[in-house]
Amino acid sequence: AQRAPDPAVTVTLAVDGVAISVPAGTSVMRAAALADINIPRLCASDNLQAFGSCRLCTVQIDGHKGYPAACTTPVAEGMRVTTQNPKLARLRRQVMELYISDHPLDCLTCPSNGDCELQDMAGAVGLREVRYGFAGANHLDAKADASHPYFTFDPGKCIVCSRCVRACAEVQGTFALTIQGRGFDAKVAAGQGDAFIDSDCVSCGACVQTCPTATLMEKSVIEQGQPEHSVITTCAYCGVGCSFKAE
Ligand code: FES
Repeated sequence: AQRAPDPAVTVTLAVDGVAISVPAGTSVMRAAALADINIPRLCASDNLQAFGSCRLCTVQIDGHKGYPAACTTPVAEGMRVTTQNPKLARLRRQVMELYISDHPLDCLTCPSNGDCELQDMAGAVGLREVRYGFAGANHLDAKADASHPYFTFDPGKCIVCSRCVRACAEVQGTFALTIQGRGFDAKVAAGQGDAFIDSDCVSCGACVQTCPTATLMEKSVIEQGQPEHSVITTCAYCGVGCSFKAE
């Protein structure tokens, strides 16, 4: 488990030359965001514990070997972080290239087109070509699970960032989702590989809200397209933050 930020202790660091003071325990990614420096990310989200799996948020820290993940690295006094340089840009493009090589290229007809973090990040890191084929991506042909009345789960679009698994556990405390297998065989599964409707899913929608692709998608969006705007509210009974879509 990660250490929670300690507001009683302040740490000052420099991110791209900008001095920032934040509570001890804050991640480098969140510290940078406070200075309006947005580090590319896929597996991190503002309301979940950092996981450090996608490696898109890789940075350089003076005195450190390698390229640590900004989302899982806590700040330290006097730390000097670089978030942008040609080497980091190349590393991020290579990471994104691997993700895109394992993802269908149907953006123009995808219901998430224009509202897809994978698409946004591919643009943000300047990906222009993918040198790899789709060999090994056997899940691309997997059939979408439409058993749930409100959303679908399409494993062919899944990047296995685990945000849905963590949202289910951390936001809702339900543990209906898990990751099965490794490498190309890794996949998100409901229960023991059941249909969503037969799992412990309580239909809170936390997984759908956090999904960065069109893997978990509201049926209403698939049928009617993206709403013009949405309102997020959190009631006193649960922490999900329901998203009401308006025409
Ligand atoms: Fe940091 Fe994915 S956002 S490793």
